[in-house]
Amino acid sequence: MSFSLIGKSIAQSATLKLNEIAAILRAKGEPIIHLGGGEPKSKAPMDAILSAASLLNSGEIRYTPADGIPALKQAIIRYTEEFYERKVEPENVIASSGAKQSIMVALQAIVNPQEEVIFPAPYWVSYPEMVKLCGGIPVPVYPEDGSFYPRLKDIEQVVTSYTKAIIINSPNNPTGAMYSEDFIAEIVEFCEKRNLYLIMDDIYHRLIFDGRKPINCYKYAKDLSENSKLIVVNGVSKQYAMTGFRIGWAIGNKKLIEIMTNIQSHQTSGPSVVVQAAAVGALNGVQSAVENLRQTLENNRNIMVERLNAFDGVKFTIPDGTFYCFADFGAYGARYNNDPTKMAYDLLERVRVATVPGNEFGMKTGCYLRLSTCGSVKDITEGIERIKWVLDPNSPNELYIGERKLVRDWL
Ligand SMILES: Cc1ncc(COP(=O)(O)O)c(C=O)c1O
Repeated sequence: MSFSLIGKSIAQSATLKLNEIAAILRAKGEPIIHLGGGEPKSKAPMDAILSAASLLNSGEIRYTPADGIPALKQAIIRYTEEFYERKVEPENVIASSGAKQSIMVALQAIVNPQEEVIFPAPYWVSYPEMVKLCGGIPVPVYPEDGSFYPRLKDIEQVVTSYTKAIIINSPNNPTGAMYSEDFIAEIVEFCEKRNLYLIMDDIYHRLIFDGRKPINCYKYAKDLSENSKLIVVNGVSKQYAMTGFRIGWAIGNKKLIEIMTNIQSHQTSGPSVVVQAAAVGALNGVQSAVENLRQTLENNRNIMVERLNAFDGVKFTIPDGTFYCFADFGAYGARYNNDPTKMAYDLLERVRVATVPGNEFGMKTGCYLRLSTCGSVKDITEGIERIKWVLDPNSPNELYIGERKLVRDWL
């Protein structure tokens, strides 16, 4: 059988496989704790539900403009004014089926085969595959100091004449690291100077802790004309707990948005009108849900940090935002040949805890697992306790999961 070179180059996701096994086990009644998830557990805002329901009730469910209905564009324009102090026009805005599609369509609009796209590692799993789907070459950058905070000089070193774009995701999936205002200023200036596209993936920008404020990249742009190569991506998935609705957006220069719209029009004809209505409801409605979620996540982050601190040998950087904690279990990695996928499978098999192995995010050192703080406090405390029981030889020999008594015979 013959398949396309690009199709064959796209990696299978170990995460999906692990999630599938976890789902099957849960359906069989197994006491799964899911620390692998990338979505808040809170309900979508009532204004989103009512707005979508009212449209559904009308029965008038039609095609929309490929780049989004005017009401959604207006809501995005208002959001951009509020959080980025920037007034944009409808022609600068495209709404897509998730921030994922906005990024994909942006890359399709700018990347030629063999051109390179740079992004700091560890990185969101989809960046390399999206670049490959465009025939481009993904270039992950590993900060030289081994931290999760890239410096401009790390990036400068990998820029070549083939570099087309840089993607920055802050706060970051999977590390939770929020890059400094100085770094954002430097990268905006650098991209302008080198005439590179800069895609700011701001999907977690309001889910930040310890009194931090979202960073506005436009503050550092000298060129805010229609020649600007700054693309800002955001969406409702994370901050409004609306992952299943699939609405994200990009703000960019008018020509770029026109090309993105042309591409999107041939892919999906634009997002479903029902979920566009829901996003309008969320963006224009009562905003307390976002702050409530942020507070819950900060509290969960604190509990995760406290529990991991009590776990000898586990190294991690305290997350500044998002709902992830990227922890290095390398002290316990020998049994797994330092392969986090083997560790993740073992944890799922022995104590029914689902995590995401760090190699999925391009992490090449240590034995990292991404742990999610989206679940309940009980999920976090019990999940870490179970992980500790499997890995740490100093933990007691027996563990109870509900009524079930487990006896450790491998350490
Ligand atoms: C860094 C990052 N960007 C973009 C997305 C995609 O968001 P959406 O659900 O809006 O497609 C995700 C989702 O996991 C993400 O983690």
